[in-house]
Amino acid sequence: MKELITKTATAAPEQTEAVAAEFAKTVMSEMQGLGGDNLFIALYGDVGVGKTVFVRGLASVICPDDFVQSPTYALVNEYRGKYKICHYDMYRITSEDDLESTGFYDYRNCVIVAEWCENIPFAIPDTYYRVEICKTDDGCGRSVTIEKISE
Ligand SMILES: Nc1ncnc2c1ncn2[C@@H]1O[C@H](COP(=O)(O)OP(=O)(O)O)[C@@H](O)[C@H]1O
Ligand SMILES: [Mg+2]
Repeated sequence: MKELITKTATAAPEQTEAVAAEFAKTVMSEMQGLGGDNLFIALYGDVGVGKTVFVRGLASVICPDDFVQSPTYALVNEYRGKYKICHYDMYRITSEDDLESTGFYDYRNCVIVAEWCENIPFAIPDTYYRVEICKTDDGCGRSVTIEKISE
């Protein structure tokens, strides 16, 4: 099943952050009902489209004290706050062993938000949020689509 949560046009990074900050409220209320399971958010979109900017907006509500940066080299950054956010960049992860070595399968009660999920189709749960960001012009225009996918 696919449920559209929002489809919003943004014209500046601050607006993409604001869309993510609004979505963070949904994420937090859903976390309350999960009883310790992880909530998975898959981010799709080209390099430089704003995936890390989106995570910054999400963390501004859930982990407001922590600094969000791209986990390109670390593979995963952890932020602490109302819930723990595990911010992944899957760009250099190509196998289940790679992913396991990052501790992916040991996380509990976390918001897992991942860039480059194209690389880890085997690890995407049955129920998750799918965020797709696309450029809509040569400048700062983006379209941000958030869907909830479930069985
Ligand atoms: N509407 C917008 N939404 C998000 N980012 C934008 C927007 N307009 C311009 N940008 C810029 O695009 C870049 C996105 O970078 P980043 O979030 O690191 O991309 P990604 O993680 O997808 O590779 C930033 O430099 C940001 O300032
Ligand atoms: Mg990024």
